[in-house]
Amino acid sequence: MSAQVAFDRAEPICGMDTWMPVPARIESIIDENFNTHTFALKLLDDELARRYRWAPGQFNMLYLPGVGEAAISICSDPENGKELLHTIRIAGSVTSGLKKLGPGGIVGLRGPFGRGWPMEEVEGRDVVLVAGGIGLAPLRPVVYSLLHHRERVRRLVLLYGSRSPEECLYANEIREWYDDPRIDVLVTVDNATGDWAGPVGVVTKLLARLKLDSSNSVVMVCGPRILNRVAAWQFLQSHVPADRVYVSLERNMNCGFGRCGHCQYGSKFVCKDGPVFPFSEIASIFGKEEV
Ligand SMILES: Cc1cc2nc3c(=O)[nH]c(=O)nc-3n(C[C@H](O)[C@H](O)[C@H](O)COP(=O)(O)OP(=O)(O)OC[C@H]3O[C@@H](n4cnc5c(N)ncnc54)[C@H](O)[C@@H]3O)c2cc1C
Ligand code: FES
Repeated sequence: MSAQVAFDRAEPICGMDTWMPVPARIESIIDENFNTHTFALKLLDDELARRYRWAPGQFNMLYLPGVGEAAISICSDPENGKELLHTIRIAGSVTSGLKKLGPGGIVGLRGPFGRGWPMEEVEGRDVVLVAGGIGLAPLRPVVYSLLHHRERVRRLVLLYGSRSPEECLYANEIREWYDDPRIDVLVTVDNATGDWAGPVGVVTKLLARLKLDSSNSVVMVCGPRILNRVAAWQFLQSHVPADRVYVSLERNMNCGFGRCGHCQYGSKFVCKDGPVFPFSEIASIFGKEEV
């Protein structure tokens, strides 16, 4: 698949009837940590599977009949059409039901939905990715894409924060990236357990170690609400323009395509206008506790 196809905005696979899930089989489940698992899914319809395209930062609605649906980011390599991965933290009924189904189980899938990361804006720039906890999942496709097409960007930096070394997602892959000269990786943990000898503290503390060319950087942030807020403000204070600081937001989702109003965020719908927003678009509502 060419880079251009991979970066194109993907359309929902179910055409007009985007409420209608299509069946997908759980091929395998990899444990990332005690409550987070990566599910490999396969669409049962070969023709849909062949046409299925998505962009980094987009999400699917995963459906369990009689239980409900959950919005889950796609976290695989957008240029590997054979693999459709979702990393899921067990939170409530849908996510625990998915885990109980196990490999071979059939789930419903709608998507891909939403506006993803600004892959067109990275050209010739430094790209700084900031992830906290499960927030690394929607950023992983960005890393894959940019490592495939490393010539597109100047510097590629990943700052990742996890509660403890044991809770780090994609530990083996992060080790590989750490040794890869094409990407600068800094990982910090809140609690240093075992033989951890790296930085300790919240991920935003890593920003101080970063020599930032603020006039020519694109920043992408995904994590808990507090991390999103603090990181965005720090980059703005370092003079990164507000339209180049991107944040992925979470809201409770229902339809996923701008019909039901569940994910309203000021005048925006997070499912359709986001989940990825440039700070400049949400500045007036971002700082408020409840919107
Ligand atoms: C765009 C988007 C992408 C997401 N990507 C992922 C992902 O890649 N992996 C993943 O594990 N989760 C992801 N989530 C979060 C996931 O959708 C929720 O955790 C989901 O609702 C869990 O469903 P459940 O039925 O198991 O739990 P529920 O019973 O729905 O929820 C359990 C608890 O989590 C709270 N909760 C539910 N949804 C949210 C939310 N969106 N924000 C804050 N609190 C919430 C509920 O209030 C409740 O307290 C994403 C959410 C969005 C909006
Ligand atoms: S989830 Fe229905 S409008 Fe966003």
